[in-house]
Amino acid sequence: MKRYSFLPAFCLSLVLVSCFAPTVFAAIGRYKRWPVGGSTRFYEFKVNTMKVTKLCHTRDIVTVNGMYPGPVVYAQEDDRVIVKVINEAQTNVTIHWHGVRQRLSCWSDGPSYITQCPIQPGQSFTYEFTMYQQKGTFFWHAHVSWLRGTVYGPIVVYPKTGVPYPFPYPYEEHVLIFGEYWDMDVVKLEKAVLASGGGAPPADAFIINGHPGPLYNCSAHDFYQINVVPGKTYLLRLINAALNMEQFFTISNHKMTIVEADAEYTKAQIVDHIMLGPGQTYNVLVKADQPIAKYEMALGPYMSAQNVTFQNISSIGYFHYSGAAINSLTQKAILPQFNNNVIVSSNLNGLRSLNVTNLPLEIDTNLFVTIGLNVQKCNRKNPNSTCQGPNGGIFAASMNNVSFVKPSISLLQAYYNMINGLYTTDFPGVPLKIYDFVNGAPNNIPNNTQSLIGTKVHVLEYGSKVQLILQDTGTVTTENHPIHLHGFSFHLVGSGSGNYNPATAQLNLVDPPYINTIGVPVGGWAAIRFIADNPGVWFMHCHLEVHMSWGLAMAFIVKNGVGPFETLPHPPADLPRC
Ligand code: C2O
Repeated sequence: MKRYSFLPAFCLSLVLVSCFAPTVFAAIGRYKRWPVGGSTRFYEFKVNTMKVTKLCHTRDIVTVNGMYPGPVVYAQEDDRVIVKVINEAQTNVTIHWHGVRQRLSCWSDGPSYITQCPIQPGQSFTYEFTMYQQKGTFFWHAHVSWLRGTVYGPIVVYPKTGVPYPFPYPYEEHVLIFGEYWDMDVVKLEKAVLASGGGAPPADAFIINGHPGPLYNCSAHDFYQINVVPGKTYLLRLINAALNMEQFFTISNHKMTIVEADAEYTKAQIVDHIMLGPGQTYNVLVKADQPIAKYEMALGPYMSAQNVTFQNISSIGYFHYSGAAINSLTQKAILPQFNNNVIVSSNLNGLRSLNVTNLPLEIDTNLFVTIGLNVQKCNRKNPNSTCQGPNGGIFAASMNNVSFVKPSISLLQAYYNMINGLYTTDFPGVPLKIYDFVNGAPNNIPNNTQSLIGTKVHVLEYGSKVQLILQDTGTVTTENHPIHLHGFSFHLVGSGSGNYNPATAQLNLVDPPYINTIGVPVGGWAAIRFIADNPGVWFMHCHLEVHMSWGLAMAFIVKNGVGPFETLPHPPADLPRC
């Protein structure tokens, strides 16, 4: 089969039309060849437990291949990636390849009860997908309960051989994967939080590549350090794999130049601080252009909600110049105030695609989805459950005021095998009630802040050109929610504060960023567009794990189009059973 290439040098040596052809197909959302790549990368993931000693205690955590954070998956654009996941732990697991668009491979996407049943202890499942027209920084993580609190690792996808980065080649690259550490079992933690009806306790530490850094107890030597050569430029691949916290990152006295967001190139944006919500990745260039010394890298909280307790101790690592004495004075990093919304919106407004592809200018499907918290009335049947939410209620969260409940077998299996009774197709495309979402929301339990509860999906025809407005609500509290869509990247064509108003909203149809997770501004809105050209069932949810547990989620069913290139293949033979 003929393979097309975007490689400019390669294009010159071919007739021009073969270089244009794939762009044309992509623009109309049709794919005329199987998404198969050049090489195949095979990995084996053994999910097992290991002992870690952090914060003065030793405990067992679930990890992959005895590494924490887990191993890096390396590939090149268009490669086939095959990962055999063998569950040697005592708990259910699935792995999600966050940001991988899974063209025609929805079965390998990984969210439990959405595209597959969990891999039970002693079982295995082989994920197979193609990095079709994708490169950059991604990550993989468990997608069962809160297991991704410890089960996560980076994915680094290089351009095809001979294709340069669109910026000067860095001297070295480093991955910095951010997380939260709990000195307890994270699966039990989810159960306890849901049983309490109240909020989640703060993490015991923020961590950079698994290390809390010297501000925490017993962690004086448990830090991550990058050794740098003066004058050189470094590419840092930043990944936020935290469970429940959005985070600021900074390096003292150094500027960071953002060149990629969610594994798509951006125009250069120079910043002092960067906010990453869970699920977001950024590539930044940092030049070691300061006097020889030891500089702090710091990771700390961004909390836009009211009345939430959170970890306030920063995780510190070092950007250490060679030639600086080991015990030389450290240049302190200064993080923004935890509630600095200005930096967050300036980060967001500065994001621009380097090249724009696939942006639908005409829209045929308009959706409006509110996102926010709820409080359900206390009506516990289980005597071990309590109602520690606001005003004696139970915390919940919702999209269009529907709290998502996971079905008992995966939605994709239910849909594919036409099994009735597991979900309904009435997820509303607009809120059932229109009111002043941000300011007029009922803020306490004497008012009705109940959400509907159900497994509702929204069905999209193949090739639909979708615009989706995500609107934060003020119910309980406004908050920046990192909303992640599986199966697609989307163009962020606009965002703002307050209620979305189509008459005044400014949309960027010139160079919107092409991302997979959008931190919808606190008390504001975001407008995203995508072409629904990938058949399957695709989860959309808040990447703050506690919000997802409370129901801040929904799923799209994207129907098959015409012919084999627009049709979901059969399920793999080893798909786990529930
Ligand atoms: Cu990274 Cu459904 O998530």
